[in-house]
Amino acid sequence: MAIVSSGPSDRASGKGSSRLGSRRLVDAQPHPYDSALDPAAGLDRAEAADPADSAGAAELSGTAEAPRLLREDTLRPRRLGEYIGQRELKQVLAIAVEATRNRGDALDHVLLYGPPGLGKTTMALVLAEELGVRCRITSAPALERPRDIVGLLMNLQPRDLLFIDEIHRLNRVAEELLYPAMEDCRLDLTVGKGTTARTRAVPLAPFTLVGATTRAGALSSPLRDRFGLIQRLEFYDLPDLQAIVERAAGLLKLELAGDAAIEVARRCRGTPRIANRLLRRVRDVASVRGHACIDAALVAEALSLHRVDARGLDASDRRLLQLLLEGYGGGPVGLETLAAGLGEDPVTLETVVEPFLLQLGFLQRTPRGRIATAAAREHLAWPEAA
Ligand code: ADE
Repeated sequence: MAIVSSGPSDRASGKGSSRLGSRRLVDAQPHPYDSALDPAAGLDRAEAADPADSAGAAELSGTAEAPRLLREDTLRPRRLGEYIGQRELKQVLAIAVEATRNRGDALDHVLLYGPPGLGKTTMALVLAEELGVRCRITSAPALERPRDIVGLLMNLQPRDLLFIDEIHRLNRVAEELLYPAMEDCRLDLTVGKGTTARTRAVPLAPFTLVGATTRAGALSSPLRDRFGLIQRLEFYDLPDLQAIVERAAGLLKLELAGDAAIEVARRCRGTPRIANRLLRRVRDVASVRGHACIDAALVAEALSLHRVDARGLDASDRRLLQLLLEGYGGGPVGLETLAAGLGEDPVTLETVVEPFLLQLGFLQRTPRGRIATAAAREHLAWPEAA
């Protein structure tokens, strides 16, 4: 029998881990946000893995995504109780988890959306831990061929959690295979070719799909409608970021003086992933300079070295604002024009750079284009508009 869509993906591999509790299996492509725009991202990828961060390698090695996931792994909260911030999201998910556990069901499918680095992957892993099930991690670009997704789905065990990052990038065939899988735990496979082609329904174990996206609007509505829980992750406020930095410093065995954590928190664009990355850069400077204790002055010095300013703007943010101010008198300017001027991809600009500038009130999106605000001028010490 020729099954057109078949076979487990041989790229997906991994084993359970007692340290991690739930099992994590990774099958992923490079993350688009790791390379683009953020100068510190390059540094992060290039650095050697910290020996203290190497636990869990068994289930994460051998994939393109593994280094980032691994590096972040030591600092990730594992349970809802350790997860700082996102109160509403945690409340909603805690109720769903408890109700699901009481029923002995698989958790309803969850869509998490919001800017990168806010903890969508972490939350998927936390959910698996809370439910006591395995978590299989992949991303839509890794599911190019029908057999990739068929393999993943057929290998799921009852109540497993399947995490698909960048779910808005699923192709149509993969999406259509997912519909009956999500709705009725069924795969509709095409058997044979041409006039003899038939559809064969293959039963699947009940599972939970956790989809993550920075672009909820780019999801087709049939796919979006199949998620029972749709939740947005918000930028973190300063007290939460400070707590995240203090927690990470403790895990990395760093001594922070009173105001050092808040200084990192102010510069991390409301994003825990960036906070942890900046903390590692500060740790480098402290160790090279022989500082046993890190204070705010050292944080400021270390992060200025990486061109991260006092409000967390990096070189890409400033380039965008400067182009707007210098080239177009502050705007309005269309996204495509800005992207061309910066030599960047418009989607990356819109989903990675702009959200934080909008959040700070440095940028406005208007129907006629982007505008740099008075706050942006003040921050960059740019002369008032005429
Ligand atoms: N590290 C990264 N994100 C975190 C969060 N939300 N809570 C605690 N630690 C974190």
